[in-house]
Amino acid sequence: MTLQAAPTQSADSSTAHPKALYGGKGTRRITVHDIAAAKERGEKWPMLTAYDAMTASVFDEAGIPVLLVGDSAGNCHLGYETTVPVTLDEMAVLAASVVRGTSRALVVGDLPFGSYQEGPVQALRSAMRLVKEAGVGAVKLEGGERSHEQIRLLVESGIPVMAHIGLTPQSVNAMGYRVQGRGEEAAQQLLRDAKAVQDAGAFAVVLELVPAELAAEVTRVLHIPTVGIGAGAECDAQVLVTTDMLGLTPGRAPRFSKKYTDLRAIMTEAARAYADEVVGGAFPAEEHTFH
Ligand code: KIV
Repeated sequence: MTLQAAPTQSADSSTAHPKALYGGKGTRRITVHDIAAAKERGEKWPMLTAYDAMTASVFDEAGIPVLLVGDSAGNCHLGYETTVPVTLDEMAVLAASVVRGTSRALVVGDLPFGSYQEGPVQALRSAMRLVKEAGVGAVKLEGGERSHEQIRLLVESGIPVMAHIGLTPQSVNAMGYRVQGRGEEAAQQLLRDAKAVQDAGAFAVVLELVPAELAAEVTRVLHIPTVGIGAGAECDAQVLVTTDMLGLTPGRAPRFSKKYTDLRAIMTEAARAYADEVVGGAFPAEEHTFH
């Protein structure tokens, strides 16, 4: 299903930059140049995760400038316990559907665990699949100093890269889920990681679960934008996992997240209303019936 005429992510960038990433108008895709210009203007911007065409089309129409097809799809869409089992084949299908559902947002595709850790050449092969098969405009991968060679080769090959440091969920088995960068040594490492990904050519960096003061320092020091999740208010941009933000995630959402609606309750009510009408014979009514 094509929800909109879907220009590829390499759509003409010769038209004027949108005035603002969020709330700005434009008939072309947001590019990494628009993202850089927003940092220069001191403009904050929102990013959301998306895993399917319909949800992506809603966010695109709402003006969300950057959509991340995160490997959080593992827990939020595919029913895995963590992001670790997600495959590149799965990411390619999800990313292609998000690209098809959007016409303005920059779509960033996550490289899943195992698709880039072997080295730069493996990373390039994996990133090319997301660019060529899915049509994403950029990819994201986890790791600071440890991933800088991968980032460099991708950028040299013409693939914009969003880096991801602090808590990196693909390393959950080694790291656990806890705030990163606490204490002098860890803070210095985080700063080194941030500079390494910038030097390698990343166009933005996600800071996940980092103390706000440290995230603010990283944001001041870097000329590329920081995208915070559990990293305080001083980051240039913020990202939330859509199922948390919409209230679909069962149980308690993480402390750094905010539930803007309770879709789980709304969907439960709708499902029960439908089921009650089927059982009671009220649906389908005459207007839903053909003769
Ligand atoms: O996979 C994902 O959704 C992410 C965000 C939490 C940044 O990496």
